[in-house]
Amino acid sequence: MIVRVMTLADLSEVLALWRAVPEVELNDSDTPEQLAKYLAHNPDLSPVAFTGRDIVGAALCGHDGRRGYLNHLAVVAPYRKQGLGSALVEHCLTHLSRVGISKCNAFVLPDNSSGRAFWPRMQFQEKPWPLWQRSFDGAA
Ligand SMILES: CC(C)(COP(=O)(O)OP(=O)(O)OC[C@H]1O[C@@H](n2cnc3c(N)ncnc32)[C@H](O)[C@@H]1OP(=O)(O)O)[C@@H](O)C(=O)NCCC(=O)NCCS
Repeated sequence: MIVRVMTLADLSEVLALWRAVPEVELNDSDTPEQLAKYLAHNPDLSPVAFTGRDIVGAALCGHDGRRGYLNHLAVVAPYRKQGLGSALVEHCLTHLSRVGISKCNAFVLPDNSSGRAFWPRMQFQEKPWPLWQRSFDGAA
């Protein structure tokens, strides 16, 4: 098992993995085209856990020059509680650190009990910030 950088060639398998994990909320930005742009914009930051044959974990990680963002962290059920989630997060934090980013945000839905148990183990703290968003250029 290795944790390695996600490549363009991984995208269809990674999307299938995310679609199969109920706690991962994909949205209309999670198309192969937009994800390819995201990977190009954030080289080396997003990891996959690879058995040598299959991808069994993945996360999407990027930054805006100021803060890191960690989205869609998922490990397929038979491979959980073996350190892969931590290894994926460590990959993200190590690579954010290399580009000078030392704070990272993760979005955890209130009803996600496994996520809420996991993030404190990674020393993430819940923050009370409300998020406001505008879609434009015809996006839903
Ligand atoms: C959250 C998730 C990625 C954790 O992956 P994992 O490979 O099981 O995590 P690890 O094995 O690295 O566990 C790291 C620590 O978190 C703890 N942990 C992980 N899942 C847990 C759970 N459901 N309940 C309690 N503790 C948990 C582990 O026991 C371990 O603790 P330790 O440091 O004391 O040993 C995985 O459960 C998952 O894919 N869940 C569904 C998707 C999801 O919720 N993603 C998060 C979106 S915000």
